Amino acid sequence: MGDSGPEVRAAYDAMAQDYAATFPTTEPEAAVDLAMLDHFLRLVREAGGAHVLDAGCGTGRMARYVADRGFAVSGVDLSPGMLAMARRDHPDLDVREGSLTDLPFEDAAFDGVLLWYSLIHLTADELPGALDEAFRVVRPGGAVLTGFQVGDGPSDVGARLRERGHDVVLVRHERGIKAMLDAFAAAGFVKEARLVRRAVGREQEPQAFVLARRPA
Ligand SMILES: C[S@@+](CC[C@H](N)C(=O)[O-])C[C@H]1O[C@@H](n2cnc3c(N)ncnc32)[C@H](O)[C@@H]1O
Repeated sequence: MGDSGPEVRAAYDAMAQDYAATFPTTEPEAAVDLAMLDHFLRLVREAGGAHVLDAGCGTGRMARYVADRGFAVSGVDLSPGMLAMARRDHPDLDVREGSLTDLPFEDAAFDGVLLWYSLIHLTADELPGALDEAFRVVRPGGAVLTGFQVGDGPSDVGARLRERGHDVVLVRHERGIKAMLDAFAAAGFVKEARLVRRAVGREQEPQAFVLARRPA
């Protein structure tokens, strides 16, 4: 676990029930977000693969989406509270505790790795280690997809949670698309696609998605 780990774990443990109730499915995702996810899954399948790691799976709603499309899915997350919700709501899914910076899986164990809004709490110092781990556990030719809020630097997202009664500190480390693309390239990935879209609904920042492959 990186330096941010204990605070992130405590914050997500505290909000786990609310999170599961507020975001039970992919309904909050914009259609274009899910188009990126579907494209990622298509690449995984076209490459002959079927096993996806949902890294930072939280309550399991994205793992559910992937599993319902015929893929084998494993999930990993730092927060026992979020994992408890995943096990309650999706008892058929395989989820376990672990850190993005030290994934509890063998080399090349997966055909695809999904990092859906899970790199967002990693500092600039921690991000390279997490992407190195994603590179290690995805097989050559496999795909990786991440989604994140676009911004510049740390943002105290705990304030909103504290207003809702959660006694937590939670920092989101926002970055631009170039910083994320550079970090993926530094880990050895080759870019497949990227998307930046404007904020919609209750979102306050533009949202971005990076899809990349580990070279075959
Ligand atoms: C915004 S939530 C997204 C959860 C899920 N991917 C979704 O879209 O509903 C971020 C998740 O990433 C997890 N997370 C953050 N940093 C992590 C780390 N270093 N290692 C493992 N999980 C982490 C949190 O515990 C939380 O469940």
